[in-house]
Amino acid sequence: MSLLIKNGRIITAVDDYQADIYVERETVTLIGKDLKVQADTVIDASNRLVIPGGIDPHTHLDMPFGGTTSADDFETGTRAAAFGGTTSIIDFAIQTKGHSTHEALETWHRKAQGKASIDYGFHMIITDLPDERVPEMLRLAEEGVTSYKLFMAYPGVLYVDDGTLFRAMRKAGEDGTVICMHAENGIVIDEIVKRARAEGKTDPKWHALTRPDRMEAEGVFRSIAIAEVAKVPVYIVHLSSAAALEQVRLARNRGVHAHAETCPQYLFLDYTYYERPHFEGAKWVMTPALRERWNQDVLWQGLRMNELQAISTDHCPFCFKEQKELGRSDFSKIPNGAPGIENRMSLIFNGGVAQGRISLNRFVQLTSTNAAKFFGLFPKKGTIAAGSETISVDNPLMHHMRVDYSAYEGFQVKGYSETVISRGKVICDKGEWKGSSGRGNFLKRGRYSGFNL
Ligand code: URP
Ligand code: ZN
Ligand code: ZN
Repeated sequence: MSLLIKNGRIITAVDDYQADIYVERETVTLIGKDLKVQADTVIDASNRLVIPGGIDPHTHLDMPFGGTTSADDFETGTRAAAFGGTTSIIDFAIQTKGHSTHEALETWHRKAQGKASIDYGFHMIITDLPDERVPEMLRLAEEGVTSYKLFMAYPGVLYVDDGTLFRAMRKAGEDGTVICMHAENGIVIDEIVKRARAEGKTDPKWHALTRPDRMEAEGVFRSIAIAEVAKVPVYIVHLSSAAALEQVRLARNRGVHAHAETCPQYLFLDYTYYERPHFEGAKWVMTPALRERWNQDVLWQGLRMNELQAISTDHCPFCFKEQKELGRSDFSKIPNGAPGIENRMSLIFNGGVAQGRISLNRFVQLTSTNAAKFFGLFPKKGTIAAGSETISVDNPLMHHMRVDYSAYEGFQVKGYSETVISRGKVICDKGEWKGSSGRGNFLKRGRYSGFNL
């Protein structure tokens, strides 16, 4: 199978030039002007941007959480990702307390194999790490799972104490692997939630009002300080607020290997969504919560200044009618998470590049290259073309996620993926699905190589 992409404008993290690309057996083998080669498939990419496929380093497909399971599995979730221009994801395997991390990895391999239509890797969520389990981490690294997520939030569920945090961080550093942190002081937040419930506060907006941004900032400060002592690169996931970003900035200015991602929801949505009537605010119940609008400018500034290095989705969809409903009479029972895997590239292209906030090269860095470097995947590929579309649950071109609402309903985006190529094969073309379930390979990742990010 060979593929020739002609006359495209090729954008990478640093380049911007016109050329042809020849892909043979899943790998780019030639790039040059007016290539004189025969190919099984030829794509005319005149007036189109050709960019590396998007990498979403934070998704939750088929994830048991909040008394239910996220609505997209590896089949529907990866297909929706592909339609949105994302050709690789890194999802999360979850260790069950008292059980080995290898068991968790096997469980998640079974969830993905034969279903994923794009390539996927796993971070391991560690929930329990007595001394005798610490050596498991090296075996995980050898199996291509070279990053861990640790939670300061969700006491009694995914939360780990600072001792466990430090043990995991020290070993991860010794193995050349990295730590992803959910940085929010869940212990204090739980106290605030308890009082709110006792006072009869039940609406979705109380999810946000019980999770102050200062508790996110405290988690970011503490996790970076512990990582610094443990000598491990740390990556703060789903950073949502100016207060939290300030802690990343201070650490980076001290020369610490501290990194962070934000997500489209924190760049485009805000606290007021929770105030929508008839329980609609539940659609945006996620953790951390949406913040006051002014935070968005600070986050965009952070993306420009390289205080934030990547944009993921934290895609964790729950249907409004059946699943969000679980918290109708108690905000603390609303499953935490929102959909976005399909919307990330368009939203960031539109809000970032088209609206003049970031360059095309920065767009590629933030949606693909930096995650690839940080998580041992560099490089992957895909295309995106400028046009204009409305994101809507009713727009068949823009909604393939298995969830009954769009978090970005009505958003107009200039820039959506027209032709998506995964390992040399066209998998989406002008709204038509050409991929196949099970074609996605497990990404056996390398060790940390993000020193200059
Ligand atoms: O609300 C969220 N973010 N749900 C997914 C779990 C997590 O904390 O990433
Ligand atoms: Zn999290
Ligand atoms: Zn998450």
